Amino acid sequence: MEKILVTGGAGFIGSNFIYHMLEAHDDVEIVCVDCLSYAGNLVTLEPLLENPRFKFVKADITDREAMYALFESENFDIVVNFAAESHVDRSIDSPEAFLMTNIIGTGVLLDAFRKYGNGKRFHQVSTDEVYGDLPLDRPDLFFTEETPLHTSSPYSTSKASADLLCLAYYRTYKVPVTISRCSNNYGRYQYPEKLIPLMISRALNDENVPVYGKGENVRDWLFVLDHCKAIDLIIHKGKVGEVYNIGGHNERANIDVVKTVLAALGKPESLIEFVTDRPGHDLRYAIDASKLERELGWVPETKFDDGIKETVNWYLDNQKWWKDIISGDYVKLSEELLGKIS
Ligand SMILES: NC(=O)c1ccc[n+]([C@@H]2O[C@H](COP(=O)([O-])OP(=O)(O)OC[C@H]3O[C@@H](n4cnc5c(N)ncnc54)[C@H](O)[C@@H]3O)[C@@H](O)[C@H]2O)c1
Repeated sequence: MEKILVTGGAGFIGSNFIYHMLEAHDDVEIVCVDCLSYAGNLVTLEPLLENPRFKFVKADITDREAMYALFESENFDIVVNFAAESHVDRSIDSPEAFLMTNIIGTGVLLDAFRKYGNGKRFHQVSTDEVYGDLPLDRPDLFFTEETPLHTSSPYSTSKASADLLCLAYYRTYKVPVTISRCSNNYGRYQYPEKLIPLMISRALNDENVPVYGKGENVRDWLFVLDHCKAIDLIIHKGKVGEVYNIGGHNERANIDVVKTVLAALGKPESLIEFVTDRPGHDLRYAIDASKLERELGWVPETKFDDGIKETVNWYLDNQKWWKDIISGDYVKLSEELLGKIS
């Protein structure tokens, strides 16, 4: 059995990764550590709580004592660090939690890995936002792994700091790190403050759908399961000390994403409401993922239109999941589930 620690697994991408790993590999055991911040929802993992290959631990990655005790008792083969404060707007309002979790928390995990691990891999889940942005009028430009880090928001700065910390621990202490930098994800279990689920939840209620500025900002969209498959490949076949970009070759202006989702829901474009732009709003992200394709044979499998249809259908079929988040009931439901397993 291969024992994998997944931090932040009660969030969007981490939970999708856990489901993917348990389905794709019979010889994998997962321990999920999550502090259940506002973005963590144990309901998402409820179907796994009795699975003998899965264990949930409520803990904060900045809690050094708790992390050391966990690493000492569990003997992880692989650590995949998803845990993060992840919403740019929140980082602009109050950066501190981002510095704590994204930088200090990553540092604590690296120390725990060094101190107790015979682990073969520490994988840091990062973002294309560490590269800053690209101009809208230069469609020929893409981020490669060599693009200098040039961050815009407290969020991206905290993620870039964590990346540098990982690379320093590789160079100085030989911690076997890999880093992946991914573009915007979409899919099931995404907290409804992010663009696509926010749009779906509001449009279904015939509420206005807010779009920053003129909606011209361009993002490269990747279906979450394609991201999970890429990380699965990198932790097993990627080379230590390396950074891998992950992207969908799916550049879309925000306004076009909004229109696609409204069309999939059968809702009118008159619901779109342009709102004052986010300060420091990055213009365009576009990933060159050719290293991952060349070295590990990864290609995104899901076409944007298919992925969006699947995603919209999931939010339509699972309205209780996101309505419980909007009402706040998910906090109580998560606590009830915690009570059952502890
Ligand atoms: N969502 C995207 O499009 C995207 C794109 C590229 C990279 N990423 C990166 O992927 C990772 C996961 O992103 P996401 O969208 O799933 O985020 P998310 O906000 O949905 O989930 C984050 C999870 O981390 C947990 N968490 C937060 N602080 C913690 C702490 N101190 N200790 C333990 N757990 C903690 C939360 O409870 C939550 O379950 C992040 O590192 C993010 O930077 C996200």
